[in-house]
Amino acid sequence: MKKSNLRYTLLLLAGLGLAAPTLYSCNSKSTKTEENTTSTSNEETNANMSIQKESFGKTKDGTEVQLYTLRNEKGVEVKITNYGGIVTSLITPDKNNKPGDVVLGFDNVEGYQSDAYLKSGPYFGALIGRYGNRIAKGQFTLDGKTYTLAKNNGANHLHGGIKGFDKVVWQAEEVPGQQALKLTYVSKDGEEGYPGTLTTHVTYTLTPDNELRIDYEATTDKATPINLTNHSYFNLAAGQAPDALGHILTINADRYTVVDASLIPTGELRPVKGTVMDFTQPTAIGARIAQVEGGYDHNYALSNTDGSLKQAATVYEPTSGRVMEVSTTEPGIQFYSGNFLDGSLTGKNNTAYKKHYGFCLETQHFPDSPNQPSFPSTILKPGDTYKTSTIYKFSVKDQAAQ
Ligand code: GLA
Repeated sequence: MKKSNLRYTLLLLAGLGLAAPTLYSCNSKSTKTEENTTSTSNEETNANMSIQKESFGKTKDGTEVQLYTLRNEKGVEVKITNYGGIVTSLITPDKNNKPGDVVLGFDNVEGYQSDAYLKSGPYFGALIGRYGNRIAKGQFTLDGKTYTLAKNNGANHLHGGIKGFDKVVWQAEEVPGQQALKLTYVSKDGEEGYPGTLTTHVTYTLTPDNELRIDYEATTDKATPINLTNHSYFNLAAGQAPDALGHILTINADRYTVVDASLIPTGELRPVKGTVMDFTQPTAIGARIAQVEGGYDHNYALSNTDGSLKQAATVYEPTSGRVMEVSTTEPGIQFYSGNFLDGSLTGKNNTAYKKHYGFCLETQHFPDSPNQPSFPSTILKPGDTYKTSTIYKFSVKDQAAQ
């Protein structure tokens, strides 16, 4: 469809009183006919297509927030709101080319702000900062000074505190020529107890190869701990299975960080070999979960990390044929099997999110690193730039003949 035709169609829709989302100069196909006649490559078409923006409602304090849609030519569609940088929906085709939403979340901002949601704190799809995972007793000492952080997980600090990066409004901008959204948030000196003004940019890019790429970047004016991640819950069956326990998971990690009862690392890195923690060979999430007290909620120390992008995990869901590969520059990945979901939250498509309905693979540095001198450092210093990247790539196995 030509630009002028599309504009005309939108005007017509608006004239008819239909809610049409704002589209910026979309040059790409939007009809089946055009798909058959288009002569540009996927890459070119994808680059020419601007992203869609629509209202996602108002936050409790009255701030208007937006929902952005990234799309590629292979039928993948990602929706992201600048409230918390949350990935609200991620549609990928299954082995029969049937689209399905593979992440947990809500259709509007109220869902992410309800009392029930805030009480149970699942962090669906959100950007997590300044520090993903726990900091023991909400305290650390840096350059001789002790800092006290907000405690929001018993005695500990979790996922950036009471109002972490998952609950703030990010400034959003389109990245020209790409299916990408750049989010920026400036965290003030002292926010949630952290030192320094921290400027964070997170860019979500949907590539023509069905990758959702997340690039994190940050600078600070005082030394501060930082450990950014995304907290998406996946269920690759997209409603075709009762829970996520049938997903076949592989994690490229020979060791994990042992934790105490409050999920704070003891400092020990323990080999997974011969234990229920071993996912070095493809294994169903549910195969041994009954033997893991509370379910999986552990940081795996990835093997062969050197700061470049390396494959960290692979997930295969047999009913849909969907495959998700996770690559990251990070040294760790938190595998969380949705243990605290209890059915009390109902999300998109009227789905009750019961225990183990979704799982997370949060790429990260290790938990409580500011208090663990033997773990890779998470301290960002003024003049340095924090840079990490993670890719979630989607494909299918056992594809039906088209
Ligand atoms: C992380 C934590 C879990 C839990 C979830 C959110 O994965 O490690 O213990 O807090 O986030 O519910």
